[in-house]
Amino acid sequence: MGLENKHIAVYVTGGIAVYKAAEVVRGFIRQGAVVRVAMTQDATKFVTPLTFGALTKQPVLTDLFAGDNDQFVPHIALADWSDLAVIVPATANVIAKMATGLADDAVSTTLLATTGLKVVVPAMNEHMWDAPATTRNIATLTADGVVVMQPDTGLLAEGYSGRGRLPEPSAIVDFVQHVWAKQTGRLRGRNVMVTAGGTRERIDPVRYISNDSSGKMGYALARAAANEGANVTLISSIISLSAPDSVHVITVSGAQEMLDTMKTYFAQQDAVIMAAAVADFKPVSVAEQKIKKTADNDLMTLQLTKNPDILKTLSVDKTDQIMVGFAAETEHLLTNAQHKLIDKKLDMLIANDVSRKDIGFNADQNQVTVIRPNVEPVQLPQMTKTKLSEQLIEMIADLLPGK
Ligand code: CTP
Repeated sequence: MGLENKHIAVYVTGGIAVYKAAEVVRGFIRQGAVVRVAMTQDATKFVTPLTFGALTKQPVLTDLFAGDNDQFVPHIALADWSDLAVIVPATANVIAKMATGLADDAVSTTLLATTGLKVVVPAMNEHMWDAPATTRNIATLTADGVVVMQPDTGLLAEGYSGRGRLPEPSAIVDFVQHVWAKQTGRLRGRNVMVTAGGTRERIDPVRYISNDSSGKMGYALARAAANEGANVTLISSIISLSAPDSVHVITVSGAQEMLDTMKTYFAQQDAVIMAAAVADFKPVSVAEQKIKKTADNDLMTLQLTKNPDILKTLSVDKTDQIMVGFAAETEHLLTNAQHKLIDKKLDMLIANDVSRKDIGFNADQNQVTVIRPNVEPVQLPQMTKTKLSEQLIEMIADLLPGK
């Protein structure tokens, strides 16, 4: 889902951060949104409408009375067209106008006529942001259902550091996407726990046993669930990938720690997606100091003991949670996967052939078969892990009982 095909009206008001709004617009377009821009006269002094027109390939609204508007009532046309409105950068002036319902130019008039979701991204001098009037206006907007993104702290245009900076464009795009998902996504109000990566079973302070799992599938699933508005808890054994800000990431090492952490959150979950590649065995004991090689011993034996089966253990306490597992197989894919589905009491098992180098572990693409109890297996075509995650999240959302 996300912002794909959504109509976003971006309102650009006059401040030094206007140049960053161009990057925000590009970010929305990259997400598949259709963007139209309206600018205040002051904003056009920082960046011309031509920039936004070229980026969006849409006319830019700057003047309600300009004869070249292709719409008879341009402000109403833009207000009605938009699924959501983003005011970026939002000056203290436009915030004050929105709070009081003032409509004296193209931007403020169109915003007053907008009934859908509005997201305000303020940028101004710290003293203007802290002024009692701005605080009052922000409180009014929030009470009116407008979502306000908090400004960053950092170097301001005035040359000193303070609160009031426009956040980075990518953070703004993520924030808007998150707000939109929370209001409209299929998983809004749902709790989803996802695991990712190969567990690391410690041998000593500097060594561990692990496997080839990169965590990409788990991170893609966490992102896809967040894009549908879920409250996502991601239990990860790797630190090299990044998750959206809204995802609660908990880093763990071994299978036992993963299980203990999952147990803490399990009862509140609507769905658990176990994409982690859990090591089946761990060293019997973890050496406190780095193990040294000795001159008289060319052979080294590491004694291993079985790890708990996380899915099986959690299934014992299961109430309504939808339990989803993965089966990484190198042979007899369907037979082995069917067995795991039943053995681990799962609602869905996603089976993939890890003997193929182009898919599965570490690759960006995957090709899976989705297996469910008493339903014919569904073989999905090969696709990116991102696309696949979106499809799997759709299928998991279909299994959740209505709220
Ligand atoms: N799994 C688990 N706990 C384990 C091992 C695996 O919860 N100790 C989960 C995995 O995260 C995955 C599913 O069970 O979702 C199947 O994992 P897989 O490694 O394919 O199967 P195993 O049960 O380990 O069986 P085998 O290694 O014999 O194929």
